[in-house]
Amino acid sequence: MTTTASTTGNDTATSTPLLSLRGVTKTFGAVNALTDIDLDVARGEVVALVGDNGAGKSTLVKVLSGVHAPDAGTISFEGREVQVADPAAAIDLGIATVFQDLALCENLDVVGNLFLGQERNRARLDEVSMEVTSWELLQQLSAKIPTVRIPIASLSGGQRQTVAIARSLLGDPKVIILDEPTAALGVAQTAEVLDLIERLRQRGLGVIMISHNMEDVRAVADRVVVLRLGRNNGVFDAHGVSTETIIAAITGASDNVVTRRRERLDGAAGEAAAGRPATTDEEVAR
Ligand SMILES: Nc1ncnc2c1ncn2[C@@H]1O[C@H](COP(=O)(O)OP(=O)(O)OP(=O)(O)O)[C@@H](O)[C@H]1O
Ligand SMILES: [Mg+2]
Repeated sequence: MTTTASTTGNDTATSTPLLSLRGVTKTFGAVNALTDIDLDVARGEVVALVGDNGAGKSTLVKVLSGVHAPDAGTISFEGREVQVADPAAAIDLGIATVFQDLALCENLDVVGNLFLGQERNRARLDEVSMEVTSWELLQQLSAKIPTVRIPIASLSGGQRQTVAIARSLLGDPKVIILDEPTAALGVAQTAEVLDLIERLRQRGLGVIMISHNMEDVRAVADRVVVLRLGRNNGVFDAHGVSTETIIAAITGASDNVVTRRRERLDGAAGEAAAGRPATTDEEVAR
């Protein structure tokens, strides 16, 4: 495995988002699954994609992984506008997706799953080199898996998630999309997977993580992107935002930016009523 952080160190390379969506729209018949979605992911950044059931998260992932073509909008990768025509095109670009069901084969061992469909030297499967690569990959991820010859059926949920992530890294991606990576996991396994996501970030990958768990989001994400009814409904710095604020944006209980502005203006209007001179903001409010 040769995934490394970009080492070009040039300012243009680091300031251009790795992945950038503008105005992405997708309808299914009468259903507007995505309307005018913007999203940026930088190198070495973990973006949490959150939203209620039906908000459009999986549809967005499918657009990025080449399963669905958007009806409108643009996708840029490393500053270049691209078409993600099919799943192979996504992988060629460097966008890897770990779907929620993981798609692992229970009866195959770790090596068999990592190389499923891409066995080296197809005529004579090169078991030794596949095993060595598997070990190296899992070691780089500090994965707690006792042996690469263990069938998937004997692994815990967190270990399976690790194998699925390791498999997606074989294609040497620059962006990795994880759909609900901690949904089925207990506390200790969740912590392991969150550590793993941090290691992906350290390697310079851009990570998009879908999650319904606000604790996980706040523990590992740099930014939180909220979708509601297929539209953008707020982008937050994960370190400066409260869980309540994210949930309010998810449920639409309040539109945070607008509400905060209104509160600020209401406060100023109250002061004006008490005899202080009106400010420009208050005039705007009227
Ligand atoms: N293939 C499809 N055909 C028709 N409608 C679809 C299709 N895929 C998604 N939708 C609709 O698009 C909307 C967004 O669905 P999506 O699966 O993206 O939501 P989600 O945010 O992933 O929800 P969840 O948290 O429940 O997984 C929903 O109204 C859904 O019914
Ligand atoms: Mg979904």
